[in-house]
Amino acid sequence: MMRTTSLLALPFLFMFFSASLAAPLTYNVQSLGARPDGRTDSTKSFMNAWTAACASAKPTMIYVPRGRYLLRSAFFDGQLCKNSAITIRIDGTLVAPSDYNVNGNAGYWIKFQRVNGLSIYGGTLDGQGTGLWACKASGRSCPTGATTLGIDNSNNVIINGLSSLNSQIIHIGIVGCQNVKLQGVKVSASGRSPNTDGIHVQSSSGVTILNSHFATGDDCVSIGPGSTNLWVENVSCGPGHGISIGSLGWDLQEAGVQNVTVKSSTFTGSQNGVRIKTWARSSNGFVRDVLFQHAVMINVQNPIIIDQNYCPNNNDCPTQVSGVKISDVTYQDIHGTSATPIAVNLDCSKKYPCSGIRLEDVSLTYKDQPAEASCINAGGSASGLVDTTRCL
Ligand SMILES: *[C@@H]1O[C@H](CO)[C@@H](O)[C@H](O)[C@H]1NC(C)=O
Ligand SMILES: *[C@@H]1O[C@H](CO)[C@@H](O)[C@H](O)[C@H]1NC(C)=O
Repeated sequence: MMRTTSLLALPFLFMFFSASLAAPLTYNVQSLGARPDGRTDSTKSFMNAWTAACASAKPTMIYVPRGRYLLRSAFFDGQLCKNSAITIRIDGTLVAPSDYNVNGNAGYWIKFQRVNGLSIYGGTLDGQGTGLWACKASGRSCPTGATTLGIDNSNNVIINGLSSLNSQIIHIGIVGCQNVKLQGVKVSASGRSPNTDGIHVQSSSGVTILNSHFATGDDCVSIGPGSTNLWVENVSCGPGHGISIGSLGWDLQEAGVQNVTVKSSTFTGSQNGVRIKTWARSSNGFVRDVLFQHAVMINVQNPIIIDQNYCPNNNDCPTQVSGVKISDVTYQDIHGTSATPIAVNLDCSKKYPCSGIRLEDVSLTYKDQPAEASCINAGGSASGLVDTTRCL
């Protein structure tokens, strides 16, 4: 066929094919040398794919076919990228080194920084953290551990359908970002694994977490200083330590947390449901405009908790009083079962009592009886099914 095509027709053929397929420029990591055998370090192929995608001004896809790819460590920097639409489509699994000494003090295993316009679809990240957890449990001295996936100082990011297994510490960390949407994320690690938060958000605005499942050893979602306009919806948590705003108030000068919505979430056998936790230290931090709505608690130890006296082993809390001001926190339509007699425990700062706490339609039972509530230094109102809410 091609032999009979005149030279003049070639540009038209080219246009026809590029328009009809509309495929973005694609870099397949296997074509760049990555080996799906789980043993050969494929870091270089991934970095080369990133460099090429980054240098292209057109929307570009990096494709990871099925198979297991060992990545020693991968830091993707977008500062000099011409591209603001890089898609990474992962059908396979990325595997961390099993030796925790390789990345244990590097902060992250995989990290994207200074990227504008990134979408990650699918994929499993296997952090291979069990060795480090065992080291920590043994009391030996061990590295801190690496966050599995960090998104750092980046804007306009989508993470859809990603699974994270057995991270050394945090599974996914979002720090210094704007407009990040995480959807259909699945986090799993042992309920006894230390510091394995599911998604940790900090110094970021416009982060949305939807339709995701967390089973892990620490907070399912942890919300650190400087988190604003955060939305969490349709999330399941357990085992885990709940959805936590905190720990806050470690620093004297600290950015506050404002405008957080946690909606339609289910907590099963978790240590906490919805929690706000601050150090018993001086700080100018704050938490305001928070809505916890439509939550189901199943056998949760502390379904609703504010703990402003956090100070493990009474160390490092010279003032013993939290400076973090908590106001306008609404708990609405929260029902289910508590694993302990006190289902609502609001323990606020002596110096800065919580204000504007609203409990509306909160109905929690312990052993088929209405559970109790305890409030210290908390002001606000309670309405609806108030058996647990006599303390406001
Ligand atoms: C609060 O955050 C949501 C996104 O989570 C945003 O849509 C809304 O506009 C914000 N509200 C204010 C008052 O900034
Ligand atoms: C939450 O889940 C419900 C039921 O599965 C679904 O209809 C709704 O669209 C989800 N919400 C979001 C924001 O995805």
